[in-house]
Amino acid sequence: MPVRTAVIVAAGVGTRFLPVSKSVPKEMLPLVDRPVIQYAVEQAAEAGIERVVLVTSRGKTAMEDYFDLAPDLERTLRERASPKLEAVERVSRMAEITAVRQREPLGLGHAVLTAKSAVGGEPFIVYLPDEILLGEPSVTRQMLDAYERLGNAVGVVEVPWDDVPRYGVVEGEARSPRETLLTRCVEKPPRREAPSNLAIVGPYVFSPAIFDCLESITAGAIGELQLTDGIDLLAQREPVHAYRFEGERFDAGTPLGLLQTSVELALRHPDYADAMRVWLRGLAERIA
Ligand code: G1P
Repeated sequence: MPVRTAVIVAAGVGTRFLPVSKSVPKEMLPLVDRPVIQYAVEQAAEAGIERVVLVTSRGKTAMEDYFDLAPDLERTLRERASPKLEAVERVSRMAEITAVRQREPLGLGHAVLTAKSAVGGEPFIVYLPDEILLGEPSVTRQMLDAYERLGNAVGVVEVPWDDVPRYGVVEGEARSPRETLLTRCVEKPPRREAPSNLAIVGPYVFSPAIFDCLESITAGAIGELQLTDGIDLLAQREPVHAYRFEGERFDAGTPLGLLQTSVELALRHPDYADAMRVWLRGLAERIA
């Protein structure tokens, strides 16, 4: 069955971005010329995903408004022949976007489970929107292809060993340089107990069996229902592969990471790349 639906988990409080995230969802902070969350939606839409389910929470309706039609704004931009019209129109027409609410902050696994009825009994792809993943073909395309060949697939990257305790980490049997049949995964292990330095960053492509697993788990690391624990259970029932996709990964989930990701993306943006290069060279000389 083809994957038609994406779930984007955007329910977190955004503690790292306080006080900004008091009133602006961290997923709406700008990365060059669009909000962070748009990168995931665009990649999904470009890969043929038709429906996007946003998992949000109280105070985060700005995301739904952003992807909604804005007839008055569009009319005004059209009358003024504004160059922004196309970008504004595109945002609301990329995919069919709906939102479900995670009413309590019970963890990433619980957030995914919140999307169960919106997804239906179909395979789906899950994005962590802070993870900006660039590849050619797109990381989404690579993960969907991996799902077609292998079944459940989880996007992983190698991280420095010191960073391992911040992630979900996989253990398994290497089947090829990029594919590992997952035997176990563990959320935020202490460094010396970590089975590998292959960290889960998504996207994840799951069969609907993940929902049963998420309904069976109990609170894990930091007292939350962890998606990683759901995957660990799923791996006992169906094959799950960790897939080391080809591409670049940027973490826009902290203020410093967002800044660094902005610079990296601006350097790849046709409108800004030249000016950024000139500015960065000057900056490097000034601070050398
Ligand atoms: C979450 C997941 C973790 C994953 C990480 C990637 O952790 O729980 O498995 O490795 O995202 O960014 P968080 O960053 O919410 O602590």
